[in-house]
Amino acid sequence: MEPLPRAAREARERAYAPFSKFRVGAAVELRDGRVVTGCNVENASYGLTMCAERVAIFKAISEGARPGDFLRIAVCADTDRLTPPCGACRQIIWEFCGDVPVILVNMRGDSKTYAMRELLPEAFDATNLD
Ligand code: THU
Repeated sequence: MEPLPRAAREARERAYAPFSKFRVGAAVELRDGRVVTGCNVENASYGLTMCAERVAIFKAISEGARPGDFLRIAVCADTDRLTPPCGACRQIIWEFCGDVPVILVNMRGDSKTYAMRELLPEAFDATNLD
């Protein structure tokens, strides 16, 4: 497996998912070569749960990354049908990463790559605010 999906797979091991038991890992690759990972982090107040993709992106932002620095994102879950990002994550990925390749993988090594624009067509875009 390629390094970025492998990083997502390893991050999945660190998922905190005692409620759903559904573990997800994500990894973003930055222009400077750094890879930042995330896993889902659940909460007893279920709606406060944070998805793996957003954890990875927010970690990268908190470590200095800015829109334009993100090259690719990989997402790993243990499902036969690959698990694409939820709607909330799609908006966040679009805003910070733009039209990047989104690499979906599962534990059997299946993989499919989408362009972010395919996953969020006609996206709401902050540049339309003014
Ligand atoms: N989850 C993610 O981490 N990423 C997704 O794209 C879909 C859902 C998490 C949230 C929750 O902890 C669990 O998977 C079940 O929804």
